[in-house]
Amino acid sequence: MSLCIGLTLSPTWLNGDGWRKDDSKAEQLLSSDYYLELAKKAEASKLDFVFKPDSLFLNKEMINQSPGFSSLDPIVLLTSIVRETEKIGLVATMSTTFSEPFTVARQLQSLNWISKGRIGWNIVTSIEGSGNFGKSSMPSSKERYDRALEFTEVVRKLWESYPNESLTMDRESGQFANKDMISAIHHIGDFYKVEGPLNIPSYCSKSIPFFQAGASNVGRNFASLVADACFAATPDMESAIELRSDLQKRANEHGRKTEAIRVLPGMHFFLGETHEEATLLYKNAHTHLTTEQRLGSVKRILGVDLSHLPLQSKVTTDHIPEVFTNVRSKTHADLLRRIIVKEEPTLQELLLKPEVIGSAHWVIVGTAEEAVAEITKWFEHGALDGFIALPGGSVRSLNLFFEKVVPLLVEKGLFREEYTGSTLREHLNSNKSRGRHPLD
Ligand SMILES: Cc1cc2nc3c(=O)[nH]c(=O)nc-3n(C[C@H](O)[C@H](O)[C@H](O)COP(=O)(O)O)c2cc1C
Repeated sequence: MSLCIGLTLSPTWLNGDGWRKDDSKAEQLLSSDYYLELAKKAEASKLDFVFKPDSLFLNKEMINQSPGFSSLDPIVLLTSIVRETEKIGLVATMSTTFSEPFTVARQLQSLNWISKGRIGWNIVTSIEGSGNFGKSSMPSSKERYDRALEFTEVVRKLWESYPNESLTMDRESGQFANKDMISAIHHIGDFYKVEGPLNIPSYCSKSIPFFQAGASNVGRNFASLVADACFAATPDMESAIELRSDLQKRANEHGRKTEAIRVLPGMHFFLGETHEEATLLYKNAHTHLTTEQRLGSVKRILGVDLSHLPLQSKVTTDHIPEVFTNVRSKTHADLLRRIIVKEEPTLQELLLKPEVIGSAHWVIVGTAEEAVAEITKWFEHGALDGFIALPGGSVRSLNLFFEKVVPLLVEKGLFREEYTGSTLREHLNSNKSRGRHPLD
């Protein structure tokens, strides 16, 4: 059993003031070279995949100070990376709320052909952007997940509608493909009506791996039904253990094997040659955030305005709704609620939490050795099957990950030295096949 490791292609290390550093190459941020260099580094380190998050709206508030969410389209960007890499998996984020199943099925399958089986799909239901797609407001969380379930079912059916085996290419008889093996899907559901078949065959009989992010009750149910891997926001080990065991239990209830679903927390790291250097890096990465901006973040996450409270006053459950009905992400709202219930922090303390200033991810601040010790601890406690690396603070911290953290994990036998397969599915399966997880 070894770790499954992905690297984000969202430039998290440029957040805050990171982009202002001399070596940030911020001017190249919208070039494909920038990401190609990263993907090549990730491939040289034998990572399982690079991962392109995405959103379909611009946060004008953030863009004033950092790259935020302005980014290249995942399919277009990954297409430019495919032909210059050979082994590494490429995971594209595509929204089920704002896309059409036929288009998604076709684009992903096209990239799967071009990459020879290295594509994965990060299925998101989106948190914002309705105005860009002719809608006056975001559909409810339940509707978005109902739609996501039907959407993925249609995409699967489309991939199966034109199977690879139907390509007979028999020169002698003149049969290119066996039309009897290709069929329309005649899908009529609550949200979609799709005739099919897809106009591109499947690259192979193994389906494209599904990733998912969103851990509300409905989100977990969706993940446990369809996902091969979950990108998780788990700020502490306890929440990761709870999420992993719950997803495994739900997957079992849906008749899937425990190992069918991998939990990959986002790991936001600030690395230095010394602990002190790393601590300073972490501190500096967030000093630019004003109290007003932090309060704005709380409002976006919880849907409540706490700006009337004095900084020294305690924040308790009295200040937040009992049930979140209309928040952007229940996952993030619940994580922040956990802190308020558990710690009753002062407003000032609350405004320092990673759940407020970051994205509620697991934060590691320290040396490469300290990071490896922490990763090992989470792994041994059954909190993860791997992680998605979200480098923070500086390019130097990102480089320390490749130069020190990955080699140390290999040395400890926790990560592969060489690729044993060449498709993303093979990479994911190779992690599981090298023995059992210590806790499974
Ligand atoms: C760790 C994490 C990463 C996410 N990444 C994206 C993303 O890249 N793009 C996007 O549109 N939504 C993203 N989302 C939002 C989810 O797809 C989902 O729409 C949202 O969390 C609401 O679902 P929930 O109520 O289950 O949390 C992410 C959510 C989480 C928890």
